[in-house]
Amino acid sequence: MLALLATPASALPQPQSTAAEPRPASIPAAPMGWNSWNSFANLIDAKIATEQAKALVDSGLKAAGYEYVVIDEGWWKGQRDREGNIVVDPQQWPALRPGQKAGDMSNLADYIHGLGLKAGIYTDAGKNGCGFAGPDIGPKYPGTGSEGYYDRDFLQFAKWGFDYVKVDWCGGADEKLAGAVQYAEVARAIRKAELETGHHLYLSICEWGSQKPWTWAPGVGGSTADIWRTGGDIVEPVVEAATDEKHLKRIVTLNNVLKAFDAGIHPEAQHTGYYNDLDMMVIGMRGMTEPWERVHMGLWTLSGAPLMIGADLTKLNRSSLAMLTSPDILAVHNDLLGVQAIKVAGVKPALEVWAKPLATSGKRAVVLLNRTESAATMSVKWSQLGLVASAARVRDLFAARDLGPYDSAFSTPVPAGDLVMLVVSGQDRAPTLYSAVQAGNELAGGAVSEPCGSCPGGQSVTIGGKKSLAFKGVHSATPAFIRVIYRNTSKATVVARLAVNGSQTTAVAFPPTGEERRTLTLVLNMRDQEELY
Ligand code: GLA
Repeated sequence: MLALLATPASALPQPQSTAAEPRPASIPAAPMGWNSWNSFANLIDAKIATEQAKALVDSGLKAAGYEYVVIDEGWWKGQRDREGNIVVDPQQWPALRPGQKAGDMSNLADYIHGLGLKAGIYTDAGKNGCGFAGPDIGPKYPGTGSEGYYDRDFLQFAKWGFDYVKVDWCGGADEKLAGAVQYAEVARAIRKAELETGHHLYLSICEWGSQKPWTWAPGVGGSTADIWRTGGDIVEPVVEAATDEKHLKRIVTLNNVLKAFDAGIHPEAQHTGYYNDLDMMVIGMRGMTEPWERVHMGLWTLSGAPLMIGADLTKLNRSSLAMLTSPDILAVHNDLLGVQAIKVAGVKPALEVWAKPLATSGKRAVVLLNRTESAATMSVKWSQLGLVASAARVRDLFAARDLGPYDSAFSTPVPAGDLVMLVVSGQDRAPTLYSAVQAGNELAGGAVSEPCGSCPGGQSVTIGGKKSLAFKGVHSATPAFIRVIYRNTSKATVVARLAVNGSQTTAVAFPPTGEERRTLTLVLNMRDQEELY
């Protein structure tokens, strides 16, 4: 039972002003952890994976919320036995304690679980994975994809005990497959494996944005939580152990970081547990400076993007670790609304103000981003944030300092190639309320308006199956944050499709609420998407 009660909409505000207002639904934040690729490429083995897992704990990263240890390409060289089961190198994956058998990936999953962490693994949606297209180090190895073996492989990953699977696209691209079709099959195979083992596998889609996954990846194959890469690799792996000329020359730049951020802005697709993936992070890697790391951390957390660290965790310096574990910054990442930021002002080219609403009423996370090579004074006005012009408290997150109340705007110098990240706590502008049963709305497939004591207008509409509801006459000149008030009295998350003006469509996950009304926040583009992004 999914009942839509009403949708208040406004330019940026996240309205939640009265005590009777429903609470936000509980949706999962994007995953946080470590991935082997950026610093170890296909040299990954049990020694590296266990050392990094241990460092995740010892460094305090686990305590800050980083929980996944993901082994990327290179863990498997494409061998299968006669039945088609994956066979791995027993030397690369030995027994890790007495009684274990070498060549069994559950050894690693057990080790990771023993540290209180979660384990992630990697495959490709096509036949030949990226190890065939061009491994970073060593000879090509064919057959590292799961195509033709989806049911078998995802069941195997779940049986080994893995909790997360990244599914790459080298084979899919080579074979010119359709991402929307292939990843729906992957999601179905994962669900089958979950039903058989009772073990959840989180789906990480790695299609690099080539087929606009933000238009089909939310809820693909019925998935109630997933992430999708929005661009190519942020950098080629910077492998400190590799001393050939090609690797020695590799270095990370601010431009790598900004390019990945720009490719990842698809706010209308991100909500209710579905996230744009801007790629594994490069904080702590060769070439990064403290201001660039600030830009990186600020933009990834403001976006609510997955935070998968790509550095060698045994070598992170104090400043990188402090940024990665800052409670103020991580609170923005983990905010319950799970929405992405939108640009609220581009003062001049390359001087940009980005913002998003947070779950607490009147609260906004704001980034003042200076992409230029000179320092600049930058400002944000409360009107740009959907707040009324009255005293709002401002906190500088990287400085971890309260700056006091400001009446209608805040200005600050921002150094070249750097950012200032704020939380502004003020008062929401009044939202516009659209009732599910207002005149002009279209009910189809047997959907009818029903009495509902606690709903605005006293009526609600149940959707799902063939029953659908179209709100008419919703207007906004800019992208609008929409809050949907709903109730889902079933025990499971319901995934429904949402279309705006016949063009933008996305899946929305409605978690169960019992008898209570809860809210979900979405970003809708009312105008032609191309005009805005
Ligand atoms: C692709 C992905 C990377 C990494 C490599 C492994 O390039 O985008 O994140 O998984 O493959 O080869």
